[in-house]
Amino acid sequence: MSSVSFHKKRIEECLRENIQINEREAQIEAENILKFALKKSSSFFISNQKTNIDKIQEELISSILKKRIKREPLAYIFNEWDFYGETFYLDKNSLIPRQDTELLIDLVLKRYDKGSKLNILDLGTGSGVIGITLSKLYPNSMITISDISSKALNVANKNIKNHNVTNIRSLESDWFDSFKEKELFDLILTNPPYISKDDDHLNNLELGYEPSNALVASKNGFADIFKIIDTSPRFLNSEGLLMIEHGHTQGNRVKNYFQQKSFNNIKQHRDINQKIRVTSASKIKI
Ligand SMILES: C[S@@+](CC[C@H](N)C(=O)[O-])C[C@H]1O[C@@H](n2cnc3c(N)ncnc32)[C@H](O)[C@@H]1O
Repeated sequence: MSSVSFHKKRIEECLRENIQINEREAQIEAENILKFALKKSSSFFISNQKTNIDKIQEELISSILKKRIKREPLAYIFNEWDFYGETFYLDKNSLIPRQDTELLIDLVLKRYDKGSKLNILDLGTGSGVIGITLSKLYPNSMITISDISSKALNVANKNIKNHNVTNIRSLESDWFDSFKEKELFDLILTNPPYISKDDDHLNNLELGYEPSNALVASKNGFADIFKIIDTSPRFLNSEGLLMIEHGHTQGNRVKNYFQQKSFNNIKQHRDINQKIRVTSASKIKI
């Protein structure tokens, strides 16, 4: 038997030798692997570096490393991932929630009181993280989550059950196709596919594990964004707001497209790295 700190070093070395990640990334992954294998929180490791790891935990760590060396993302190995401080079930049928997407939640919190009674749509919900997080933060609101992929919706529905939220419903739909014409939302949020099929990032072996229809969009990555901007006015209340996450180089074209389609109050929002990652706009001046 050996200690937590011994294993942490061993895991970091193994990751750095085999998947060429930097020192900081290896430290974070090693901590995540230990947290998962020992079923402990981060605070446990601060004061328990000398705690011994038993044989079963050692075997679990080895099996995780075998998969990770083949570049399988930790989120799929663990079948869970954290978003906005909560843990969500995950499998290869839905995109791994990115920390960047938490910006959408921060922006909603800045704009609306938690007691608001809103009709909110999370379009292209994947694992359901955006909609489920909002259903908890806005218990008086009604949340709809939708996706074209029935397999992704199975993941989202499992998360609805695990998180025990009731002010939420899910709908299989190709963007707005299955929505009733008279259905109006106060807020539509979306993190659609926006990577161009020629983008070099797609050579990243980790991305190969994620569903490509969650990542790639035609027209240099803009097809889904433009379609959502085109169609959403029919599904927004008169003061309704559309918020779109996009790539950091796409901000200008997204803003221009919103302007062409006569949206108002167009605002762009930066992530923690000061890159524009979200554009929001409303149908009328508010
Ligand atoms: C980038 S992922 C975002 C998933 C999730 N919202 C998140 O932030 O982790 C895009 C999602 O859009 C869905 N999608 C792709 N094309 C769609 C379409 N035509 N209609 C509805 N959803 C679509 C994909 O299945 C995927 O779940």
